[in-house]
Amino acid sequence: MMLEVRGLAKAFGALTVIDDVSVTVSGGQALGVMGPNGAGKSTFFDLLTGITPADAGQVCLNGTDLSRLSTEARVRHGLVRAFQIPKPFATLTVREHLILAATAGAGLDRKAALREADNVLERTGLTGLAAQTGGSLRLLDRKRLELAKTLATRPRVILLDEISGGLTEGEVHALVDLIHSLKSPDLVILWIEHIAHALSATCDRIMMLHLGRKVIEDTPDKVTSDARVRELYLGAVPHA
Ligand SMILES: Nc1ncnc2c1ncn2[C@@H]1O[C@H](COP(=O)(O)OP(=O)(O)OP(=O)(O)O)[C@@H](O)[C@H]1O
Ligand SMILES: [Mg+2]
Repeated sequence: MMLEVRGLAKAFGALTVIDDVSVTVSGGQALGVMGPNGAGKSTFFDLLTGITPADAGQVCLNGTDLSRLSTEARVRHGLVRAFQIPKPFATLTVREHLILAATAGAGLDRKAALREADNVLERTGLTGLAAQTGGSLRLLDRKRLELAKTLATRPRVILLDEISGGLTEGEVHALVDLIHSLKSPDLVILWIEHIAHALSATCDRIMMLHLGRKVIEDTPDKVTSDARVRELYLGAVPHA
């Protein structure tokens, strides 16, 4: 598995929001994306999914150029974004959510979808909550379910945009453990987050964006100790 982004660019009128960003992430790896508010992180994801058309550049998955495909077609190629604010169906059980995702998202038949649902429950630590309804879940478990639903569609690339919002410190650790456990050779993970230690604990590399440009992309140690990063970002976030 290999996601290759080359020369991605986007301007809204006179404002350049993504400026010639290139990055490659292989299967089994997680790339953290950091940057101050307005740096262009979410827009970067919008360009990857195609919900916002890029002005220039390519998004290739295993050598296939997805750049001119619709968002739906990219999803069929396995490029999937997890929703930032998970809103499960109040009356469907956790297991039913996953069966639905495996049927509608991955196109599995009923029998295979049942197997896939159990498999994903196991991977995401939700087995004990399988019979609970979506409406009864606490925030952390809603986030787990959101990730589980994404996994049940059998993605090749998952995009996570600030999914730790609203969680306590201890819950963030649980989320970090979960994301870490999802890493596998046939999956690429991209995770936008302001919490540097969460990205450091999960990601093989971190890319820092500022004013739409890639300032640095390196191992978490190198990035978090980089003088430019500290000045631009870490200094402004007391808890990072
Ligand atoms: N549809 C749009 N039209 C015009 N400007 C936009 C649009 N979407 C985003 N922008 C601008 O692009 C810049 C980057 O926004 P973006 O949401 O990508 O930043 P971000 O890094 O995700 O920030 P945050 O940390 O606050 O989530 C901002 O200046 C924003 O105002
Ligand atoms: Mg954003």
